[in-house]
Amino acid sequence: TGMTTLDVGFVNTAACQSEITFINGDEGILRHRGYPIAQLAEKASFLEVSYILIYGEDPTPAQLQSFTESIMGETTLPEVISPVLRAFPAETHPMPVLSAGVSLFGTLGDDISIKDDKQIDLATARLLGRTPTLAAAIHRVRGGKDPIAPDASLGYVGNLLRMTFGEDYEITDELVRALDMLLVLHADHEQNCSTSTVRMVGSSNAPLYASIVGGINALYGPLHGGANQAVLEMLERIHSNEGGDATKYMDKVKNKEDGAKLMGFGHRVYKSYDPRAVIAKEFATDVLSKANDPLLEIAQELEEKALADDYFVERKLYPNVDFYTGLIYRAMGFPTEMFTVLFALGRMPGWIAHWREQHSDPATKINRPRQVYVGATEKNFVPVSER
Ligand code: CMC
Repeated sequence: TGMTTLDVGFVNTAACQSEITFINGDEGILRHRGYPIAQLAEKASFLEVSYILIYGEDPTPAQLQSFTESIMGETTLPEVISPVLRAFPAETHPMPVLSAGVSLFGTLGDDISIKDDKQIDLATARLLGRTPTLAAAIHRVRGGKDPIAPDASLGYVGNLLRMTFGEDYEITDELVRALDMLLVLHADHEQNCSTSTVRMVGSSNAPLYASIVGGINALYGPLHGGANQAVLEMLERIHSNEGGDATKYMDKVKNKEDGAKLMGFGHRVYKSYDPRAVIAKEFATDVLSKANDPLLEIAQELEEKALADDYFVERKLYPNVDFYTGLIYRAMGFPTEMFTVLFALGRMPGWIAHWREQHSDPATKINRPRQVYVGATEKNFVPVSER
């Protein structure tokens, strides 16, 4: 119609109203349900932040305990999963396997009705409880090892570390706190590509699990969650091919050679420093400077050069959350290909909260963008035998 406006990439178009997350991209502000991200990262656990995102208010100690128990009571994987994980070739990237596994969660009578609150609460607990077990099992099976059964007594993050790395890995309070905080930093980010996908799929009244699978696949791409892996690969390439000299790579990026980008830089909404990157950077610097990690030095040099360079200044390109997180995951022992899976574990409560908000909003309709048609005008079809 004449009313249709073109907005490639939805730069200006709001698709919904939401009460969950506030971002002011010019000032670098991020708040969940009103709480600044820095306060949550410092003082709240990942499961508490999950509760706040999903239910809209901070839980009492009793509410948090019962929420935690409902999740830790759902950490065991259904039996159908294990043979499926083993069916993927070992070199398959973990993200498609994660997507297949979560897809299986939504079968066997679990493909819930969108109208039944009890079923939705159960699906919420299962998604938060089982996905870390699935992630760890994917890592183990890729490495030719057997999955490790969950142990709820270790807590959400301790259990994830144990299931991933096994008995010999020393789980310290410091490590648990660090990984918990990284999950908090990823918990929600309003209408990003994967969350919009969850809402897009959910808008057809598809079940919660199916909608989350859509989100996982959207997260996989290097412009979104896949950036954390891409950053580390970029740092490794600079380290091994260019002797750690960041200048050559920066020149390539500025000349847009082979579409090279400074991965972990830039953001659709933030036109100032990403407040999540502030926290991740501080943490990475603390932990990794002791280890003399050469990749940390390359990252710091890249950042310093970029923030002083006209190309990046003019375009308001700053480090985003993915720039420093990979270095921390790596120091914890996670292989690069698991980084985006960790992002998915962190984003899970946000995806769930948005799906639930969408279905409790009376204004919700099926999402159906319009287009501006620029193809051929009417042509006369000639049968193939006459061509
Ligand atoms: N390196 C070099 N140039 C860049 C970068 C970058 N990382 N990001 C944007 N630009 C340039 C871009 O080429 C364009 O230049 P020009 O005006 O000369 O054409 C200008 O900056 C504006 O960029 P855009 O592509 O219009 O911005 P966008 O809002 O469409 O894209 C983005 C946002 C995050 C996809 C992009 O900045 C990017 O590709 N960054 C690298 C990938 C990355 O780190 N993604 C993680 C995002 S944050 C968390 C998450 O979602 O995982």
